[in-house]
Amino acid sequence: MQTITRINSIQNVFGYDILEEIKDVIEDCSMMADYERAFLNALIRKNKPQKILELGVAKGGSSILILNAIKDIENSHLYSIDYLENLYCDKSKKTGYVVEERIPQLSPKWTLYTGGLACKFIDKIGTDIDFCLIDTVHRNPGEILDFLMILPYLKDGAIVVFHDIALHFITKVDIIGWTKTYQKTNTNGLLMSAIKGTKILPEYVTTPYPNIGAIVIDKSTREQIWDVFNLLTQNWTYTIPEEEVSFIQKHFERFYNNSLIEIYKTAIQIYNKETDKNLSQTMYSADLKSNIKEAQTKATKYFWLYKTALGKKRKEKKRLYKYYKERVRILSKYLADIKEH
Ligand SMILES: C[S@@+](CC[C@H](N)C(=O)[O-])C[C@H]1O[C@@H](n2cnc3c(N)ncnc32)[C@H](O)[C@@H]1O
Repeated sequence: MQTITRINSIQNVFGYDILEEIKDVIEDCSMMADYERAFLNALIRKNKPQKILELGVAKGGSSILILNAIKDIENSHLYSIDYLENLYCDKSKKTGYVVEERIPQLSPKWTLYTGGLACKFIDKIGTDIDFCLIDTVHRNPGEILDFLMILPYLKDGAIVVFHDIALHFITKVDIIGWTKTYQKTNTNGLLMSAIKGTKILPEYVTTPYPNIGAIVIDKSTREQIWDVFNLLTQNWTYTIPEEEVSFIQKHFERFYNNSLIEIYKTAIQIYNKETDKNLSQTMYSADLKSNIKEAQTKATKYFWLYKTALGKKRKEKKRLYKYYKERVRILSKYLADIKEH
């Protein structure tokens, strides 16, 4: 029978104090909400893993959190992998740069690999991984492939944490803009459903639904791995370069049987076409463009409304004007970023 447990990570159990110590250090580089950080920290403090794998580093906010959480755990080591050598949102900086900059004393406990998928580096890291954070693309086939690449290297009992398991869902409550941008970011939610094993969720959340969760790997995870391969039949939102397609296939052939490999090959034939790539990118940009236009129209509307209003109404309309203006700025920057990549 499947079990779901809840972990109380906000109150001072399982070492919340140790997370408080680095509050200021990670505030501007962490891509997680407070309760998500508390959850990740609590799982590490409670289980004291020895060999930790992190997929998706960005500036290094979650790497700092993990390194801080293992600072007094003897022989515990963090291996991090990021697809990009340079930071995805600012190419002048190196991926993971904040670790050396802010906690150099913990860098002996850290090994960082950048410039490729997990299957490029995982043999160097080896087996017996007992804790893993997966926080990469959030769009299909992203983490589905990532998970399949690293599963053979995980111990039974290993805890795999997925971030952004409900991004597509909770952003629906936002007023405008993000809904369309995030609607395809459902990969980790799908994985939370498909991967067999005990599920762990945070007890206290500040979003309408938990956006972080974990799964404890056991025999059933491996026996029922078809359920995960089957997710590859869901729509893909980007294509994989040709050389990576065969590299991934060769990696899978070492661990999975032919009928599973066939699912991967069929998905490649169906989804991995240049035309689809162009189509999905155009649609993605088109979504963003229409959201920017909508926010711009509202900003203009509230600009004139606040100029002519009085008292309390003026204050509220000015607030809305500033809100939509900021929306335009953020979405435009986002659009520029995705065009660059
Ligand atoms: C959401 S950010 C990671 C945030 C980080 N975990 C944190 O909480 O501070 C996603 C990162 O994943 C990287 N990435 C994207 N696809 C990847 C893949 N398949 N394998 C490894 N890294 C990937 C991107 O380059 C980016 O730096």
